[in-house]
Order: sequence, then structure tokens, then C-alpha cells
Amino acid sequence: MSSYVITGASRGIGLEFVRQLSANSENKVFALVRNKATATKLKNLARNNITILEADVTDGKALQLAAAEVSKATDNKLDYLINNAGATTDPGLTLDQFPDPEAVEKDLVENFRTNAISVVHSTNAFLPLLKNGSAKKVLTVGSALGDSELTLKAEVTARAGYSIAKAALNLVVAKYAAQYKAQGFVFLSINPGSVDTSADAISEPSAGTIAENTALFKAITTNLPNHKGRITPEESVRLQLEVFNRWTVEETGAFVSQHGSKKFV
Ligand SMILES: NC(=O)c1ccc[n+]([C@@H]2O[C@H](COP(=O)([O-])OP(=O)(O)OC[C@H]3O[C@@H](n4cnc5c(N)ncnc54)[C@H](OP(=O)(O)O)[C@@H]3O)[C@@H](O)[C@H]2O)c1
Repeated sequence: MSSYVITGASRGIGLEFVRQLSANSENKVFALVRNKATATKLKNLARNNITILEADVTDGKALQLAAAEVSKATDNKLDYLINNAGATTDPGLTLDQFPDPEAVEKDLVENFRTNAISVVHSTNAFLPLLKNGSAKKVLTVGSALGDSELTLKAEVTARAGYSIAKAALNLVVAKYAAQYKAQGFVFLSINPGSVDTSADAISEPSAGTIAENTALFKAITTNLPNHKGRITPEESVRLQLEVFNRWTVEETGAFVSQHGSKKFV
């Protein structure tokens, strides 16, 4: 029996992690969501080995309470943590296009809290349980937009706050990896690929999102002709789990693609 905690499990890639991991009835899956009432697709999985818990990942205290619930159910142990939750603001602006210094700072801070500090909070909350677990593995879902080489090659100017936060996230992962390598922990950041999660979207895209996406896809398809288009959540999660399962402590702290390489397109 292996135990898993997955953040951002209400929809998209997180929901797919829950679906694939809970298909094995031997696994115990703890699915963390912001709001249980609206996590309809997750609830519809209706499997006995899934426990749904509420926590906003920007709220360190809420994550500690969720960890206490998991601890009660697992005799204070956890094998795997999957830090999947993340979000992007959609200002449709490059860094120098915000109307004033306060606006650009607000966007940067918001993205940093949701995509980088959140992973510090959730990792800290579950580390005591992971130390007692048998796998000691933490997968964090990063983004190729946080890679400076891809940014330069594809000339991606959109989603600055999100990209900067995802770059910082990779250093969060490296810090934990450096600290816990001697204890046999494996920390890994994986870019999931360009994943079409629109089927689970909770609202129609705003004008800002459409402008951002248009700029982003134009940059990527113009500058990176090898880009193969979007993949399904099913394919992304299957590939990520293959990489995560084979990843060893010798390679802890890396940031790789869903194929386990440094090639992001
Ligand atoms: N899709 C892609 O192509 C792609 C590419 C690169 C990286 N990623 C990364 O992959 C991860 C999953 O993305 P996705 O495409 O599945 O996104 P998505 O469909 O928008 O789902 C995001 C998930 O994160 C949750 N979430 C957002 N903010 C949260 C918060 N403050 N507290 C708790 N949960 C929160 C959402 O919960 P609610 O339902 O409550 O909003 C939802 O479950 C993210 O980290 C994203 O940055 C995605």
C-alpha cells in the first residue's frame, strides 16, 4: 500500500493524478482541494481509496490541518507528495506594460504566493509524515515557462509573473533536495508538457487570458517549430509518473520535462 497527497485535485492535471493513482485499489489517495462543494468531477470518481480534504495552498495553517487529517488516517506516514496546484494571473501585459509600480508588484507577488510559496507551505506541512514514509518522494509540477533558455528561444514575453514564480519554484525544489538528499529523499520538478485542461475549466476565458494565450502560442509556434501541440491530461500524467517512479536520489532536485529530459519542446 502506498499513500499519496495531491494538491489542486479538483480538476485538470491534479484530477488526472488522482484518477490514475486511485485506479490501483492498494493506493490510498488524499486529494486536496480549495472547495469540496465545487469539486464535482473529483467526487464523481467515487472510489473508496480517495479521501477529499480542503486546503488553499497559499494558507500554511490550512495545509497543516490537512496534514493532521492525513496523519490520523495513515499512522503519521506519507509515501508521496504531489505539489500540483498552481494558477496564473492573466493580465495580458509584459513587465513594462503595467499601469504603475503597484500593479506590477501585485501581479508578481500574487503569482509568487500561489506558485512558489505554496509549495514551501505544503512541503513543510507534509515533511514530518514523509520522513516516516517508505518512498520519501515529492513531485512538484513546474513549467517550461520558468525556464530561461526556453523563454529566450521562443521569445515568450507573456505570463511574466507566473514564469518568474515557476523559475523560483525550481529553486525551492533544489533547496529541499540539497537538505534532504542524505536522508534518501527525492525531490523533482516536472514540466507537464502543454496540456489541454480546458474540458475541466470552471469559467470561460477572460479577454486577458485570450490575449495572453494568443501571444504565448504565437511565440511558441513561430519560434519552436518542433512543438507538437497540446497533449491530454491522461498522457501528461502517465509520462510524469513514469519519470517520477524511475527518478533516484542521485538525481534529486532536477527540473525536467514529462519525458525526463532538459528538452522542453
Ligand atoms: N496545463 C498546462 O499546459 C501546464 C503547463 C505547465 C505547467 N502547468 C502546471 O500544472 C499544474 C496544474 O495545472 P492545470 O493545467 O491542471 O491547471 P487548472 O486546470 O487550472 O487546475 C489548477 C488546479 O490548481 C488548483 N488551485 C489553484 N490555486 C489554488 C490555491 N490557491 N489553493 C488550492 N488549489 C489551487 C485549482 O483549484 P480550483 O478548482 O479550486 O481553482 C485546480 O485544481 C499547475 O501547477 C500549472 O502551473 C500546467
